Amino acid sequence: MCGIVGYIGKRNSLPIIVDGLKRLEYRGYDSAGVAIINAASEIKLFKKAGKIKEIETQIPVDVFDGNVGIGHTRWATHGEPNDNNAHPHTDMHNKFYLVHNGIIENYKTLKKKLSSEGYIFHTDTDTEILVNLISYNYINHNKNFEVAVRLSLCEVDGTYGIACLCVEDPGKIIVARKGSPLMFGVGQDEIIVSSDASAIIAHTKNVIYLEDGEYAVLRRNGIKLKTIDDEDIHREVQQIEYDLEQIEKSGYDHFMLKEICEQPDIIQNTYRGRIKFETGEVKLGGLASIKDKIFNAKRVIITACGTAWHAGLVGEYMLETYCRIPTEVEYASEFRYRNPIIRQDDVVILISQSGETADTLAAMREAKKHGATTLGFVNVVGSTIAREVDAGTYIHAGPEIGVASTKAFTCQLMSLVLLTMMIAKEKGTISEDEFKKIGAEIELLPYKMKQLIDKKDYFKYIAEEFKDAKNFLYLGRGLNFPVALEGALKLKEISYIHAEGYPAAEMKHGPIALIDENMPVVFIATKDGTYDKVISNIEEVRARKGKIITIATEDDDNIADYSDYVLRVPKTHDMLQPIINSIPLQFLSYYIATARGCNVDQPRNLAKSVTVE
Ligand code: M6R
Repeated sequence: MCGIVGYIGKRNSLPIIVDGLKRLEYRGYDSAGVAIINAASEIKLFKKAGKIKEIETQIPVDVFDGNVGIGHTRWATHGEPNDNNAHPHTDMHNKFYLVHNGIIENYKTLKKKLSSEGYIFHTDTDTEILVNLISYNYINHNKNFEVAVRLSLCEVDGTYGIACLCVEDPGKIIVARKGSPLMFGVGQDEIIVSSDASAIIAHTKNVIYLEDGEYAVLRRNGIKLKTIDDEDIHREVQQIEYDLEQIEKSGYDHFMLKEICEQPDIIQNTYRGRIKFETGEVKLGGLASIKDKIFNAKRVIITACGTAWHAGLVGEYMLETYCRIPTEVEYASEFRYRNPIIRQDDVVILISQSGETADTLAAMREAKKHGATTLGFVNVVGSTIAREVDAGTYIHAGPEIGVASTKAFTCQLMSLVLLTMMIAKEKGTISEDEFKKIGAEIELLPYKMKQLIDKKDYFKYIAEEFKDAKNFLYLGRGLNFPVALEGALKLKEISYIHAEGYPAAEMKHGPIALIDENMPVVFIATKDGTYDKVISNIEEVRARKGKIITIATEDDDNIADYSDYVLRVPKTHDMLQPIINSIPLQFLSYYIATARGCNVDQPRNLAKSVTVE
């Protein structure tokens, strides 16, 4: 979490940094700050609790004009989000200014050491310890900025992405990374540092990714790249693959709304060039190198967090049903802490939109340690998980800015459909006929999704009816149980209404006690093998006067008799139905949250990419 931006070049750095921070605000928005080296080689610092939009108007631009600077938007880990704890942090002598994303785990030990050397601290942050450590090493190592940063990082346990300025060496920014993403764009006589490409894309598409354990000394027209063990590195410049337009709101009120509405187009990017519709034959180029391992896997373990974990649950159902491969789904945050049994012939699938989620990354490394084959389903191109897995396939959802994941979820589901088809074909576990049907339905999917986008006003109307609810239950069975979980997660994260997802039949083992006339219950009741059972579960809720909202297919003539409200969706193949069913749920949560006046793109306490444990 937290966003870092830096600039060194010929232009005024402040507007570039502020614009970059706005783009990175999805990573955290408790407080923000900038440190700029001005024309008189003084470092000017401004930092404050609040969002960058409020803060930028208070920065005295006349004294903050300089060609070198760093900025930060924070998601608090150590110390509450207030002005004092905002970044950049400076050392006791005000010689160094540091922005940091990550956690310095041994900060207490380091603080003790520095305190015994007379260092005094003014904030509750681990970052202040690191910047003072740099200062300490600077004084003790011939006032060499680079050596001071490098030696300090060698003393640190934990994670960091950092950018650091030194008053006595003003022509440089030193950046480093371990566990928190960092990259820099290489322009004409300028370098733009950022936690991700979104703050760079307006200036250049040429980027260099830092790897863990590396640092870089950036000058206006020079880059020195090294490991913190002092070895030289050469790294090729890479290209950012998307355009500025893709990370703008394009007239929508919120990124989330834009991202929901663009799904019919975006989903095509996930399967384009990978499937022959007529035969259902699938080719996933990124998996070619590990094909045999996948086809012969005795077991698949899917691990992920949040929405990606829900996609994994759908994947489990598909891989077991259609490929007959035993599949387990694990929370990445739990995986490595329970001494999991991982075998060399296991395939471990990591699903992650950002490709930077700390727990998912750690789960991947755990799997690799045990010799399993790792396979990534990642959205962000060039992200850490994407680079470290044995093989992978990008989901191609494009930049997802809204904190609540929407299009990444449906593209993750589509990627899992493709994987299932590829394996099932090889193993012969689905008939040719079925393949053709799925292929034909995939071709129709964007049109069917579009029909739902066109119904958004109706979803808005339903949302208005329920905007004051205190609780919600979401129920589904089979493939639609994870969809229920996802619907509930979407609602709680952006509207702050308590919502629970449950397997519909489990309701009577506990949650049924919650049902009264004030409880809205969303049933995902599209026609599949469990339909009749779901209808019985609806009856159980009706008998207790719960308010029933059903997601049902257009051809379902009876469902209205059981429901207070019906959200109609087009029928598709069972494997694709979760993609369709997710859309009304996304709209429901979006419109409930906006009706309650919530900031849907930046919900409280959340950050888009969770790069701390
Ligand atoms: O980037 P990732 O897919 O690894 O992120 C995983 C979760 O943090 C993420 O899905 C989170 O639950 C979203 N806020 C859900 O909308």
